[in-house]
Amino acid sequence: LWQGGPLRGRRIVVSAGPTREGIDPVRFLSNGSTGRMGYAIARRARDLGADVTLISGPVALPPPAALTFVGVESAEEMCAAVLDVAPSADAIVMTAAVADYKPVRYSAEKVKKQPGDMTLVLDRTPDILVALDAVVRDRCDAPVRVGFAAETSDLVGHARAKLEGKNLDLIIANPVPASFGGDDSEALLIDRTTVDARPFGAKADLAGEIMRRVHGLLLERDARIHGRSRP
Ligand code: CTP
Repeated sequence: LWQGGPLRGRRIVVSAGPTREGIDPVRFLSNGSTGRMGYAIARRARDLGADVTLISGPVALPPPAALTFVGVESAEEMCAAVLDVAPSADAIVMTAAVADYKPVRYSAEKVKKQPGDMTLVLDRTPDILVALDAVVRDRCDAPVRVGFAAETSDLVGHARAKLEGKNLDLIIANPVPASFGGDDSEALLIDRTTVDARPFGAKADLAGEIMRRVHGLLLERDARIHGRSRP
């Protein structure tokens, strides 16, 4: 069953969950991503026959069966894992809530509290989608790239800027806090030309719709590579 679907033979990479940026052996910077959206997408891609690699930050979900699972912690580890597999993949769906900053210095000793304020100095982490674009942008067989944007204002404007800035084929824009951490999703699907604002309800339905769109984008990519669509 898993091998017979419309995505059979397609290599699809999905990132999921938060990253953790260590401060000391017992503390880290992170966020509340549960990983549920990415895991739902990975399972759906697998069920449609794709050869799936799920690259996940620390979450409470068990690794799904019948896919390749790569567990990571930090943004840098996730970036290395994505750059290891995504350039040779057919599509990558970045649902991960990657930390944009990490502590400049990791303290091997547990940091002791002091009287008064304390300042934590942060450095930028790599932008994984931008790093991937630098590697694949000149290829006609560059993988289909899908990103996510969580926004508290100007949902379409900010999401479209990310779509263009990161050279994506599709971006899923989530209003926050509405769909962060919950089961349902009020996402918009935005590509280069259209904004699809249908309500999708459960994350499982949204995962199905995203994979339907990825399938369509893969057929367009086939046509770019071969000058025609695959039968
Ligand atoms: N992303 C990434 N590498 C990062 C951060 C985010 O690849 N270091 C990906 C996410 O997986 C997601 C998309 O980029 O698909 C989110 O875009 P981004 O601009 O990073 O979102 P925010 O971090 O929310 O950015 P901003 O603070 O500008 O709203």
